[in-house]
Amino acid sequence: MIITIDGPASAGKGTLASTLAKIYNLAYFDTGMVYRAVGLDLRLKGQDVHDETLAEEAAKQLTFAKMTELSKNPEFRSSEGGVAASIVSAHPKVRAALLKVQQDFSKKPTFADGTPAAGAIYDGRDTGTVVCPEADIKFFITASSEVRAQRRFKELQEKGMDTPYEKVLADIIARDERDSSRSTAPLKPAEDAYILDTSSLSIDDVLKKACEIIENH
Ligand code: DC
Repeated sequence: MIITIDGPASAGKGTLASTLAKIYNLAYFDTGMVYRAVGLDLRLKGQDVHDETLAEEAAKQLTFAKMTELSKNPEFRSSEGGVAASIVSAHPKVRAALLKVQQDFSKKPTFADGTPAAGAIYDGRDTGTVVCPEADIKFFITASSEVRAQRRFKELQEKGMDTPYEKVLADIIARDERDSSRSTAPLKPAEDAYILDTSSLSIDDVLKKACEIIENH
């Protein structure tokens, strides 16, 4: 069983995907990690994330082990890490280099400790359209940019990071624009995706709806 969950930043994909993975005992693949890893790798080497050739090289050398190592760096999940990931993800050669590693996971999904799983939940931007177009169930999770910025602002405040709300909102709008307008695999729902707008739904409501859809399936 392969389930994909796509949508813009801070729409609630990660929470939904990891909770569903626990409920249905499926492996979880946060595909944003591959782009965050390439972005951070370049930044740590002092290289320009806008340089497609250097970014492609870093993407070709990415392994799961390297991604796990890079994910321990606090910069990996920072706002700057998200911007760098979004910039490298717009390079068609980077997307091509990272496609196989994402697709291979669906053929042999494994839990974090390496044990095999009966299926996987993917979370990303193009997992239902490009990475796993044959997925059994596809979700597209969205919410207004203001609601997503509020969530992100709260998250940053809880981490003690003092970024003004206006900057968080501007970053979300800029990231949406970059993710939706790139030439390769732009952010958009698959034709057969269930669309859930989480603007006025609680996490529990979204989870309930997703579980109903999965169980009816
Ligand atoms: O989900 P995230 O914030 O960790 O993703 C970081 C960036 O990676 C996002 O702005 C766009 C890119 N991305 C992508 O292009 N395709 C995916 N399947 C996942 C993420």
